[in-house]
Amino acid sequence: MKNAKTWIRTHWRGVLLNTLGLIALLTLLRLPRASQFSGVSEPMIAAGIWAARFLLITLAITPLNTVFGWRSLLRLRRTAGLWTFAFAALHFAYYVMDSKSWAAYPIPNLAAGIGLAALLILAALAVTSTNAAQRRLGKWWARLHKLVYAAGVLGLVHGLLETGHKFVAMNQPEAATEIWLYLGLLTALLAARIPVVRRHLASLRHKRRTSAMPAETA
Ligand code: HEM
Repeated sequence: MKNAKTWIRTHWRGVLLNTLGLIALLTLLRLPRASQFSGVSEPMIAAGIWAARFLLITLAITPLNTVFGWRSLLRLRRTAGLWTFAFAALHFAYYVMDSKSWAAYPIPNLAAGIGLAALLILAALAVTSTNAAQRRLGKWWARLHKLVYAAGVLGLVHGLLETGHKFVAMNQPEAATEIWLYLGLLTALLAARIPVVRRHLASLRHKRRTSAMPAETA
């Protein structure tokens, strides 16, 4: 019983993250695939939107640690990144499977090309996310994984451009507002990594901690 309690206390954030991923996955797998637009369907769009959401969750972990000192969250960056790739790969798989002419026109327009670039980056990050790859790549690993910022920008710009697609405009008109909101969040999360902003955020945490201490110990 005590062991179970300790396990829950250490792992509840991971359990929450994986439960969210599983619920999203099971929900979108039940959506109807029928569509009058080649390759574009409800579950395809839902998978793209979930990829964007998990990408933001992944990018939010480091700033949350800077502001609140939640170090234990850092372990979840890999899990959140893998969920991002899983949803992006599913989004692409639906598109290719239901498309009548993907092999003939693999990049039908600029927006699709941007999405493909984001997917390729996410694939490279997922493949090199293991401890063994981290050891093998040495200092190149951190450099390579900085590409997650490029994936964030490309993925969301692609999403925004695709909200102009007829299927999205007809079936999910609210998606445009949602993606604009995510672009705002992405800007804030990237800004939080600029050294001067990061130092300011870390000093806020320090101030909060010292003001919470009893007067004689502070
Ligand atoms: C990180 C997030 C995303 C990634 C990595 C991604 C990636 C991709 C890829 C690889 C394709 C196929 C492109 C091709 O074969 O040339 C695609 C197509 C598409 N995506 Fe995304 N996507 C993401 C998010 C979104 C979102 C949020 C939306 C909708 C709001 C969306 C809507 C579409 C549409 C409509 C297409 C079909 C393209 C067309 O026929 O013009 N995607 N995406």
